[in-house]
Amino acid sequence: SLKALIGPSILNSDLSKLFEESQKLMDNGADYLHLDVMDGHFVPNLTFGHPIVKCLRNHIKDAFFETHMMVSRPEQWIAPMADAGVNQYTFHIEPVTNVEEICRKIKEHGMKAGVAIKPGTPVEEVEEYISVADMVLIMTVEPGFGGQKFMEDQMAKVQYLRKHYPLLNIEVDGGVGPSTIDCCANAGANMIVSGTAVTGSKDQMATIKLLRDTVQT
Ligand code: DX5
Ligand code: ZN
Repeated sequence: SLKALIGPSILNSDLSKLFEESQKLMDNGADYLHLDVMDGHFVPNLTFGHPIVKCLRNHIKDAFFETHMMVSRPEQWIAPMADAGVNQYTFHIEPVTNVEEICRKIKEHGMKAGVAIKPGTPVEEVEEYISVADMVLIMTVEPGFGGQKFMEDQMAKVQYLRKHYPLLNIEVDGGVGPSTIDCCANAGANMIVSGTAVTGSKDQMATIKLLRDTVQT
């Protein structure tokens, strides 16, 4: 059966302590780290790029790194991110026309390929790439900022995919935490990104465990 995996997002943590915050999340039971890369063009915000991811990798050797590429030209960053030690490269299909080719290139660089859609993008548009991708990300907020409200209406997409693809890795991202995890679990998501709900929690370990236990039944 599919494994429940919890990938905290460090977006809203103290990024001057990126290594300490990331290590703490791994020590508290995170299954992977979700690294939000924004280019100020695909989304109206900036975060960090491959130079910082590479520095983080030098300090954390064994964690699984997923980069969530909220960028207009995802193809451009495949080689640098692979070189930085990224394990999974998840990109949005909205700004590109050659999704298959990008997935192939990501895999050629030794990474897993994730395809993501924004809340306004119909699930059918990502469905056609399931055979070439390793994971589908259904956004549950408009990408760009942490700490936004979970969009429950996006669960219809997760339900649809889970019904037709029992073994597909389906990730949710945005506003996910203890109060919204039941929704995600019931709909069939198995890869759970959680930012503020985890990094802002007084007991990170308990919160991560609660999220995982809710999903893994
Ligand atoms: C939004 C990012 C998310 C977000 C998660 O653009 O992709 O990963 O930071 O943070 P929360 O859980 O606070 O919504
Ligand atoms: Zn994200």
